[in-house]
Amino acid sequence: MVAIEETVEWWKAIVQSMNDGVLVIDRKGIVKTINPEYTRITGVNPDIIGEPLLAHRPGAQLPDTMKDGKSRVGVYRKTRGREYVVDMAPILVNGEIIGAVSVCKSLNEVHKLTKELAEQQEKVAELEKRMSSIYKVRYTFDDIITNDTQMKHIMTVAKKAAGTDLPILIAGESGTGKELFAQAVHHTSLRRDKPFIPVNCSAIPETLIENELFGHAEGAFHGALSGGKAGLFEMADGGTLFLDEIGDLSMDVQAKILRALQEGRIRRIGDAAEQRVDVRIVAATHRDVTQMITKGLFRSELFYRLNVVSMQIPALRERKRDIPLLLQSFLPAPYTVDRDVMDLLTSYEWPGNVRELRNVIDFAVCMTEDGQISTQHLPEFMRKLLPLYAENSSLLPLHQAVEKAEKSILSNALRNAGTTVPERTKLAEELGISLATLYNKMKKYNLK
Ligand SMILES: Nc1ncnc2c1ncn2[C@@H]1O[C@H](COP(=O)(O)OP(=O)(O)OP(=O)(O)O)[C@@H](O)[C@H]1O
Ligand SMILES: [Mg+2]
Repeated sequence: MVAIEETVEWWKAIVQSMNDGVLVIDRKGIVKTINPEYTRITGVNPDIIGEPLLAHRPGAQLPDTMKDGKSRVGVYRKTRGREYVVDMAPILVNGEIIGAVSVCKSLNEVHKLTKELAEQQEKVAELEKRMSSIYKVRYTFDDIITNDTQMKHIMTVAKKAAGTDLPILIAGESGTGKELFAQAVHHTSLRRDKPFIPVNCSAIPETLIENELFGHAEGAFHGALSGGKAGLFEMADGGTLFLDEIGDLSMDVQAKILRALQEGRIRRIGDAAEQRVDVRIVAATHRDVTQMITKGLFRSELFYRLNVVSMQIPALRERKRDIPLLLQSFLPAPYTVDRDVMDLLTSYEWPGNVRELRNVIDFAVCMTEDGQISTQHLPEFMRKLLPLYAENSSLLPLHQAVEKAEKSILSNALRNAGTTVPERTKLAEELGISLATLYNKMKKYNLK
């Protein structure tokens, strides 16, 4: 007897502590048990125990289950704002139906979670949209102004490469339009609606670059952001990562980037798990990376991985016929330049390339009052060069003609020589002057 009582207590305890709602009726349809979860989900009070279920819940199907002996699964119910699903089954003892049990699960929580999930998804979509608009590119191939054969060839290559996910390495002096090309490639690619993330590798201090590129996990270090921080690789997911001035990266960071590219995965600082990222890499540099490899300053594996499509943008002085075209496009509508200005602009060597040309034009436009730009409106450093570039050199005073020739010889020699002190010393020797004289002349003629 004691044993049976214990067993009954045991089963009661189980039913009471279940996470599903349970209601039991006997063969007469009288409610025998209601557990607290059933009350919470359906709002039916335990005070109906001992009374017929149909008296309190006229639409109940549980008595039918008992009558026909058939289970019912996943019956949807909604009463007074409460939503739940019910499973019903007859209780069989020795082949005889002695009652029925109803087990229910609330849908309100599911709905609440679904609603929250939908809200979060909407927020994520909104943020993604905003991020891609923040990181939208400004330039397309139509913005690249040129009439130069070599440049046109590079544009053809770039347009073809844009349709693929191949990495691109763009080399060229400062201001030649490397970023312009990178943006145009992204704009023409299938990734155009995803972010274009530019990273200026030379502007981020060595100690911070890993954090910038790969981000960190929450609690990764003192000062780590709560919730962690996404790195630029993650931000560029699905889009293009523009690694500008790649030649300025330390060997150590080069190794980390190489790993990320090889694996297609990154790991935030302090994170145990890696995550997959899908980024297209466009890299740029004004340095001679092959020379850096020989000097042990750049990893050849990284170079070969980036240099799948390679483009060398020519300096502006190597395509001087582009100057009038560029001038035309940079000059606002009513402005014109006079003959002397045009001569000076086309004679100048433009060490800062297209960017420098644009700056000079912007300055001149700002200086003139009547829309007619003459040499007096040019920046001082250019006005100083005027005698050197005067149109007809045979009419120049002798010392100016000599200076002009000297500048031209020096600028050619410098272009073909390296920039280290031993290389410059060697150049001075070849020119038959001292290193100090070479530097003085470089300063005088604004050569680099
Ligand atoms: N072919 C071109 N047509 C029109 N604009 C150009 C052209 N090339 C460069 N520019 C303009 O010159 C400026 C410099 O270009 P960009 O920033 O792409 O140069 P860069 O090679 O990345 O220079 P840096 O190495 O200094 O970063 C930009 O304002 C760009 O719009
Ligand atoms: Mg740039």
